[in-house]
Amino acid sequence: MGIPLVDVKAQYEPLRAELMERIAEVLDSGRFILGPNVRAFEEEAAGFLGAAKAIGVANGTDALVLVLDALGIGPGDEVICPAFTFYATAEAIVRRGATPVFCEIDPATLNLDPVDVAERVTERTKAIVAVHLFGRPAPLNELPDRIPVVEDTAQAVGAMLGGRRVGTLGAAGTFSFFPSKNLFALGDAGLIATNDSDLAERVRLLRSHGSRDKKDFELVGYNSRLDEIQAAALRVFLPRLDGWNGARRAAAARYAELGLGEVCELPEDEPGHVYHKYIVRTTERDRLVSALTEAGIASASYYARPLHLQPALGYLGYGEGALPETERAGAQTVALPIWAGITRGEQERVVETIRAAAAVGVSS
Ligand SMILES: Cc1ncc(COP(=O)(O)O)c(C=O)c1O
Repeated sequence: MGIPLVDVKAQYEPLRAELMERIAEVLDSGRFILGPNVRAFEEEAAGFLGAAKAIGVANGTDALVLVLDALGIGPGDEVICPAFTFYATAEAIVRRGATPVFCEIDPATLNLDPVDVAERVTERTKAIVAVHLFGRPAPLNELPDRIPVVEDTAQAVGAMLGGRRVGTLGAAGTFSFFPSKNLFALGDAGLIATNDSDLAERVRLLRSHGSRDKKDFELVGYNSRLDEIQAAALRVFLPRLDGWNGARRAAAARYAELGLGEVCELPEDEPGHVYHKYIVRTTERDRLVSALTEAGIASASYYARPLHLQPALGYLGYGEGALPETERAGAQTVALPIWAGITRGEQERVVETIRAAAAVGVSS
């Protein structure tokens, strides 16, 4: 039997009866868009996060675009973000007609480097998009405090920084509930959290064509609504999230316990980290990946080509070597299997396979 990178089914299967019941209720109601489940999920999510407002949207990419729009970001503006992240982070900035300014990462955390961020601020900088990458909180308290921070929390729902949930510390937090995320829907879904009521109101309008009643249109908006079936599923999963994140943290600790650190560099732990991905680092990545593949174990090399080197963003003028730490991380990091239900036996197989590959490397 192979080992996947993430086994989402293992997480929702025990909840099938409850899910089917909630979905049947939606079918019975005949109400599919922005109904009582969406309203209830928004309240429950705001309560869980400790945010004043939460607004459900269609996906995590739209969540970013809507927040940037609501902040008034558009052509001529610069927005600082890391290049070591999923494409959507920068895509949303470009969608608004603004210019992404890529910053370096801290190689120890793989999150944005606040010193480098400060150096890239100009009079045109209108926001910073801080990504809590792979489930690790980004160092928000070290960022310049006069620039609005949008927290891209797609990979870190439930993570904590200084006793508070990430996604509630900046101007707004954006979330994705894509099925592989720590909190997931049964399709695409997203959320925006904020403590700013005016911003929340603008986002609420923007997600539905800039209108409250579909008769009068106050803003040029979007169609980016959360649907009832996704909200109903999210309401089943949300109360389990802290438990699932705890299981991920335990699995991360187990990788260390099993001696994986003797053959590759492990992620440094910190208490608020929720291990959306378990990322190790090695200069021998190709060998490690082929050994895993041969053993039927999935792995992934995320952001091997960082955003500043992506063809669609070539017009920004970054070349190879522009962000050395980012490029090194792109070449040396690899994600290993992790999810809330991964077993000790599965983790032992992963570690044994990597150790065996490393031993071959030493003797050859
Ligand atoms: C860091 C980051 N930002 C944004 C997104 C976009 O979310 P979605 O796929 O829901 O649009 C993702 C999704 O993978 C992500 O990882």
